[in-house]
Amino acid sequence: MAEETKRRILSGMRPTGKLHLGNYYGALYNWLKLQEEYECYYFVADWHALTTEYDAPQPLGGYIAEMVIDWLAVGLDPQRSTIFVQSAIPEHAELYLIFGMFTPVPWLERVPTYKDQMQELSHKELATYGFLGYPVLQAADILVYKAHGVPVGVDQVPHVEMTREIARRFNHLYKPIFPEPEALLAEVPKLTGTDGRKMSKSYDNCIYLSDPPEVMARKVSRMVTDVGRPYRKDPGEPDRCLAFPFHRLNLPVEKIEEIMTACRSAELGCVECKKLLAEALVANLTPIYEKRRFYEARPDMVREVLLQGNKQAREQARRTMHEVREAIAFHLDFQLWV
Ligand code: TRP
Repeated sequence: MAEETKRRILSGMRPTGKLHLGNYYGALYNWLKLQEEYECYYFVADWHALTTEYDAPQPLGGYIAEMVIDWLAVGLDPQRSTIFVQSAIPEHAELYLIFGMFTPVPWLERVPTYKDQMQELSHKELATYGFLGYPVLQAADILVYKAHGVPVGVDQVPHVEMTREIARRFNHLYKPIFPEPEALLAEVPKLTGTDGRKMSKSYDNCIYLSDPPEVMARKVSRMVTDVGRPYRKDPGEPDRCLAFPFHRLNLPVEKIEEIMTACRSAELGCVECKKLLAEALVANLTPIYEKRRFYEARPDMVREVLLQGNKQAREQARRTMHEVREAIAFHLDFQLWV
């Protein structure tokens, strides 16, 4: 019974393959904490990936498995969270279709990610119906589970806002069945890739959860630090150092204080300092790396997790769709569902 009263959280990620530390500290870390307190639904948004990858969907299948292995390795727990794949739950598509009937096109054209992404991916034909409808599908993802909270990054806030508007419009047109979900913004550390730019697969500057310890240590040794400190003898400034956010996440507070002082007095050089970081990072992430190897060797187990999750998610999604059809009172007089 207590389970029923827990607030429901839902979030998704597009399958991009193996995850990096930006994904870990920026999103997954928060997902993990939420599962302590809430009923959580976490899913692979493979239909969303298709909005931009429709011309080359082949790799997506492999990416799904890679990503879910990372989720399990960091500690998402299928006993506590429902872990599933969007395209296995056709109710998302049905609700998306219904929402599409009353979502004004100008709302969608105004979503900032629409034009931004279109520009960023200018080599692709994205003037498609599916790409424009991206936020409507996202609204269906969220509302088909009647989620209350949606942990996302700032870039996704307009999509959650759109979800609220769609929920409001449905509730007003038919029957008030949907909650208006809130975006849950976690405090996210500002992490950069090894070259100082945003950590991104396309820049080839990522440290992956799947990197073996020696690879991880090597990547740390190459990290850009404080560009205002060209020589070893110059005093450094941790607040300017691009590696320092990683220190903060991986070293004990006393050690961090010590490093800050030693950096500012030029007692500690960057090479040495990054060795300390590499050791701490490897120590913290090795258990994840090993758990990852465990699941990598057991694809059936991963599959089983998803099958179970899909089943649970589908039950909930079905229940909502019954209510939705009832609310719309669409050929209710005779039961035509087979
Ligand atoms: N659009 C999200 C992203 O790119 C992924 C996503 C799809 C999502 N459906 C969602 C996130 C529902 C939260 C809730 O990151």
